[in-house]
Amino acid sequence: MRDLIVIGGGPGGYEAAAHAARMGKKVTLIEKDSLGGTCLNVGCIPAKTFLRSSKLFHECQQPAYGVRVTSPQFDMPAVVERKKKIVSTLTHGVAGMLRQAGVETASGVAKLVARNAVQVGYQRIEALNILIATGSRPAVPPIPGLGSESVLDSNSIFDMTHIPEKVAIIGGGIIGLEFACFFREIGSSVDVFEMLPRIAAGTDEEIASRLMRTVERQGVKFHLSAKVLEVSGQTVHYALDESSKESGVADCILNATGRSPVTNGLGLEEVGVDYTTKGIRTDEYGKTNVPGIWACGDVTGRRMLAHAATREGIVAVNNMFGRKERIRYNGIPSVIYTHPEVASVGKTEEELETLGIEYRKSTVPMAVAGRFLIENEGASGVVKVLTGTKYGEILGVHALGDGCSEFICAAAIMIENEMCAASAGAIVFPHPTVSEALREAVLAVHSMS
Ligand code: NAI
Repeated sequence: MRDLIVIGGGPGGYEAAAHAARMGKKVTLIEKDSLGGTCLNVGCIPAKTFLRSSKLFHECQQPAYGVRVTSPQFDMPAVVERKKKIVSTLTHGVAGMLRQAGVETASGVAKLVARNAVQVGYQRIEALNILIATGSRPAVPPIPGLGSESVLDSNSIFDMTHIPEKVAIIGGGIIGLEFACFFREIGSSVDVFEMLPRIAAGTDEEIASRLMRTVERQGVKFHLSAKVLEVSGQTVHYALDESSKESGVADCILNATGRSPVTNGLGLEEVGVDYTTKGIRTDEYGKTNVPGIWACGDVTGRRMLAHAATREGIVAVNNMFGRKERIRYNGIPSVIYTHPEVASVGKTEEELETLGIEYRKSTVPMAVAGRFLIENEGASGVVKVLTGTKYGEILGVHALGDGCSEFICAAAIMIENEMCAASAGAIVFPHPTVSEALREAVLAVHSMS
């Protein structure tokens, strides 16, 4: 009998497995594909590799930097090759880390056959606890033609070896926006079709609309309130309202309409685990309704972020082995790796208004940090800090501008530790760094109290 079986080797599963093994527990991790899950194989890591190359390509053509390059070429096969190498290095790293921690790994498709047992091929493995960390896959909404092979999704796009002339992206969420920037920077013409009246739903609205204006200036065309109804061949059919039907043609169509939790074929019904199309229901400790069965990451449908999955997995392991702890989502940052980047943590202005919480706000240009000007020729950006009116506690931080993905963890620490602007303003930030813009925004909001 094992102490823990983990199903799924993504950042939720592998970190949880290693954590439990380091606590001295007997752990088996079962993975059907490559270790590393979506994040390492077809998500965060490949996307950031592509975006690194497109940014470099774009920047070396900006004369202001004083770098003279004659006819730069974007070598897509070389970019895909580099991505493969990075993914391979990282997945090998995960395998080594699990070995070192003492986790036993098994390859195959796992299915729950009892509250404390899993079947993998001909092997039945029993454990006191089972953690489901099976992740998510690209959603295919019931739009005729969307499932056809000519429509790419956020998995298949990473094997593309040519530069499309015209790209149509369905969905103006995180994936759609990151790819919009990538394709625009490498010279494709890009149309984004988003059914909502805004992009990046859930992100602070002011920041999202600044992002949209910036990316629009770079040449991406946004079609808002544009619901895609059908894809036929290379044509995207969409409606702007009840009566108007429009269409657009592209040689590359990307479905970026969200991701769905992977719950099928897991034996959830047989064992009685409560789940919906949105994911497996868990509480703040990571427990499902079935004692001994836990879940973390995208499969729960809570926050589809790799680092949230990791935290959820570790919280679940701590609780199953007697260290009571609960997950707190408010201090979990999120980043959109567009150019410019967006980084956020805590409450948005819209959330505070809905909750009826009074707040103060400062919005400071990123250009207050000399380093931002140095690194980002011609770019603009902002940092916004929201604080409570009574105690000045930091409630939310939202930023637009490259470099913000690296300093948002400082804001997360402020929120996680319930710091007020007075104490956060006393933190010394290194000079010259882009992070100084955060300090300026904290000081600005503090000066209002
Ligand atoms: P999303 O939920 O962020 O965006 C999907 C968008 O598609 C929504 O705005 C929705 O209104 C729109 N849409 C849906 N059906 C449509 C239709 N018929 N016509 C037009 N628009 C339509 O989902 P996305 O971008 O696919 O990302 C999936 C998940 O992966 C997210 O939860 C995200 O958090 C995660 N992710 C995180 C990243 C990061 O942290 N940087 C990077 C990539 C993904």
